[in-house]
Amino acid sequence: MKTIVGIDDMAAYVPKLYVDAEELAEARGIPPSKLTKGLGIEKLSITDAHEDAATMAAMATLKLMEKNDLSPKDIDFIEVATETSPDASKPISCYVQGMLEQVYGKGSFNHIGAPETKFACVGATYALIDRLAYIASNWNKAEYSIVVATDIAKYELNSSGEPTQGAAAIALLLKKNPRLLAYEPEFTGFGTIDDRDFFRPVERKTAVVNGQYSVGCYLRDMRIAADAYRQNMVRVGVLKSLKESLTEKIDLASFHSPFPKMVQYAFASFLIHDWRNLPKWKKIIEAIGPEPSREGLTDVEFYISKEYKEFRRRFIKTEEFRREYEAKIKDSLEALKQIGNSYTASVWLGVNSHFEVRNDDLAGKRFGIGSYGSGSSAVVCSFIIQPEYKEVVKKFDLMRMLNDRKRIPIEVYEDLHEGRLKLHESVIPPKDEFALVSFGETSVDYGYRYYKYIK
Ligand code: CAA
Repeated sequence: MKTIVGIDDMAAYVPKLYVDAEELAEARGIPPSKLTKGLGIEKLSITDAHEDAATMAAMATLKLMEKNDLSPKDIDFIEVATETSPDASKPISCYVQGMLEQVYGKGSFNHIGAPETKFACVGATYALIDRLAYIASNWNKAEYSIVVATDIAKYELNSSGEPTQGAAAIALLLKKNPRLLAYEPEFTGFGTIDDRDFFRPVERKTAVVNGQYSVGCYLRDMRIAADAYRQNMVRVGVLKSLKESLTEKIDLASFHSPFPKMVQYAFASFLIHDWRNLPKWKKIIEAIGPEPSREGLTDVEFYISKEYKEFRRRFIKTEEFRREYEAKIKDSLEALKQIGNSYTASVWLGVNSHFEVRNDDLAGKRFGIGSYGSGSSAVVCSFIIQPEYKEVVKKFDLMRMLNDRKRIPIEVYEDLHEGRLKLHESVIPPKDEFALVSFGETSVDYGYRYYKYIK
């Protein structure tokens, strides 16, 4: 009998502070509509002085454990994916373990495996696949594993990347016979290219990014991974041929969202590629004109060319695109447009958003994932929504958390960004949460992070 593994539950954590996108635009002398309409951003999630990627991960994990009434012995692995780990050697997962042990008791997690995974924003998807394979192979010693995605997206003040900042974490509970999403391992497709679109040398706090180029890399790798996914569907017999539409087989999807408009570009590019051989494409082309030629251009050059962008813009206005987008993608962005980029967490927060926003019956539907990480790699995979999913989704509270946040003025945001507020000078002093309380100062603990659960 086939072993079913997947995601049983999830718990999101977002910081309590945000910056309004229009206010940021005004402060930077940019038309607000560029951020709200051009990039699709409404709010940017901002970490307080006592927070970092480790505290967010610990908060999400604690919430996941509490709502499922789990004890440390129920858990086999806590694997944390991040590209903004506070330490270049000690894994963030051990910092998370230490924080959890302040609640569950010293040594209570000694039995777990706790690696940190890195591949830019796609890291959590890789961690998830690894852990699910482990569970499917029966190598696990406890029923559950947890994968946590946590990140703070940070660019230089006044840079073109600044409006795409954000922060959040999400913890995913994995097991056999999950209540939420059952993984379809046979279809998963990868697309990986050694590239230089976005990176952060260890000595830097902010990423180095070639913005427009990175958009092209995202679209290129996503196409390679989607083609691999399509081939796997043909191999298994779910699609009859490579020319058949993949879109018909996916009921809803979440894509990595560095900014919400990117998801629209990605879905449009996916549909253009998917529909090219279908009878309906002829009608679309008649209305919007032919696809531009790729001749003499690399994939990335083509995707960021003026001609392709204009063609895609016309395609996005068609009724055919709008119908698919509204049915399958839009709801994933309800939360994401209020968070900003959260790197590894983004695509999974999009999943959470879909579940919280949609009221129709989703049981049995196929949920597609388009995960991208700079450097660069895309993973396209899917899950089947399980019959009991509504019971699990009832306890999701991402939208509530987003509504309960405090808006901070630009000057305060800049103080936080530049590290001008000390750990004890948080805008909202920590309460019932993990906080970074001090840094080591002696020769044997210099720079070490000390965390505390503050009641
Ligand atoms: N009103 C409405 N729309 C406007 C406007 C206005 N006044 N002014 C401009 N726009 C529109 C533009 O037409 C454009 O839309 P279309 O693409 O549909 O034409 C959109 O706003 C964005 O404008 P630009 O492309 O000129 O924006 P930009 O060059 O300033 O920067 C960016 C955009 C490259 C994404 C930049 O924010 C950036 O570098 N961000 C960080 C890198 C990033 O997020 N890359 C994404 C792919 S890599 C990845 O996914 C990994 C990751 O997480 C980092």
